[in-house]
Amino acid sequence: MRASCTASIALAIVISITGCAPDLRGDMARAGVFSPRSLEAGNDALVTLGQALFFDPELSGNRNTACASCHLPSLHAGDGRHLSIGQTGARLPRQVVEPFNRSFATSFFWDARLELVDGEIVGPVAFPDGIETLLEAQALLPLLDRAEMRGDPGDVADDGRANELAALDDARPDDIWAAVLARLLAIEGYRELFVTAYPRVALDALSIVHVARAIAAFESRLWELSDTPFDRFLGSVSQEPETEALDETQRKGAELFFGDAGCARCHSGPLLTDGLTHAIGVPQIGPGRDGAGHDEGRFAITGDPTDRFAFRTPSLRNVGVTAPYMHDGAFARLDDAVRHHLDPRASLLAYDPTLLPDDLRDQVHSELNDEIAAQIDPEVVPYRPLSDEEIWQIVWFLEALTSDTERGVGPEAGVPTSVPSGLPVTSSLEPEPFTRF
Ligand code: HEC
Ligand code: HEC
Repeated sequence: MRASCTASIALAIVISITGCAPDLRGDMARAGVFSPRSLEAGNDALVTLGQALFFDPELSGNRNTACASCHLPSLHAGDGRHLSIGQTGARLPRQVVEPFNRSFATSFFWDARLELVDGEIVGPVAFPDGIETLLEAQALLPLLDRAEMRGDPGDVADDGRANELAALDDARPDDIWAAVLARLLAIEGYRELFVTAYPRVALDALSIVHVARAIAAFESRLWELSDTPFDRFLGSVSQEPETEALDETQRKGAELFFGDAGCARCHSGPLLTDGLTHAIGVPQIGPGRDGAGHDEGRFAITGDPTDRFAFRTPSLRNVGVTAPYMHDGAFARLDDAVRHHLDPRASLLAYDPTLLPDDLRDQVHSELNDEIAAQIDPEVVPYRPLSDEEIWQIVWFLEALTSDTERGVGPEAGVPTSVPSGLPVTSSLEPEPFTRF
């Protein structure tokens, strides 16, 4: 018997396996895969505060957009859109990233503009002292973003209130965060929630860090999930590996994923991402980062020409329920997203805009195709051609990365009945039409 069918790397428990490919567990271990544990998200009072903040449009300049406007628990932490929609109602340049298992992520956003470098948090702004995790740091960024939440100078909300957040200088994030906090502390319901969540912190000692920490606690409570067939297969310190947790087709798919299909060159580690950026020839869709259709991905952060059109390898956890796919929602079907990797250049050139909602069909920037194609990382293509049956085996394996909790999530999951500002709570969105496997 081959050593590879021994189970958990951490435990080195040897179990007898039937139907397990010779080297599947060894291949997984080499790809750095393990089951991420569910972390303690903080006490209930902190999570309750975080839930209110996450759902409250009071945090946006025009009091019209909450985190939950784009990250709905019932839509698996996303919005079901090809490209997200900002606070003016216009499309944003990118697809939502669904924040699952973020405490194991080393970089955030499609261009990895927020990342851990030698244990330090590096991002587009200087974060206040006390920010300890990438998830906390991230929660402060939408508050600054004019298109997502803050609005534009001169804006007046529908209810006639001026937008004091939008009037502030972009270059002074601390002022903007202080103004958001001032808004919150003007509301009695928030003062009460903060006092309960942070009993040892005086009201006048609160800072935006306490807001970020509560939001991150709420996100962690909801979305640090490891109840998937794949995790049961892997096992953990508290759970013996169960080979039968993956059916035979899924095990074949996994063998390909970690073997001949070469997926694990980039989709590695506990979240099946290397956290790095690669150019894989995805067609350019939507307004772009410059409003003129250009989104050059990592290049905008590093200025390194080899980073043009490179985007961060996405985590594949819960990928079965988080359609559409890619940084701009180019593909609505999981098998199409996988097939794109087989011959990215051909897929780019043959891209069919009728897969998109009406308003995006004439926003496919095929004039950039040659430039995008020239950047494609040759490592993206499988080590050998895959048959259609093998592609479906891989897709079926990817379905095993979906958490039972997420599969069963109901329309009211995680939604508060009201928020302290009294503003309306978004509890559902109509997902855009797409076909799913
Ligand atoms: C208008 C829609 C919108 C709003 C509002 C919004 N987000 Fe997002 N969120 C997005 C999009 C789009 C991305 C991906 C952007 C990118 O990668 O450039 C994203 C990315 C993220 C990520 C990064 C996940 C990762 O690992 O890359 C987290 C976490 C997150 N949002 C949490 C929040 C929180 C917390 C709030 C409220 C403070 C919020 N979002 C408000 C649309 C939105
Ligand atoms: C060279 C690195 C690399 C390899 C190898 C690779 N991928 Fe990817 N994959 C990426 C990147 C980068 C993206 C996102 C590209 C974008 O949005 O522009 C991606 C996107 C995806 C997506 C879409 C997920 C989402 O949430 O949008 C799926 C599914 C996927 N890959 C599966 C696979 C499979 C299956 C294989 C093996 C056949 C594979 N990948 C091989 C880098 C890679």
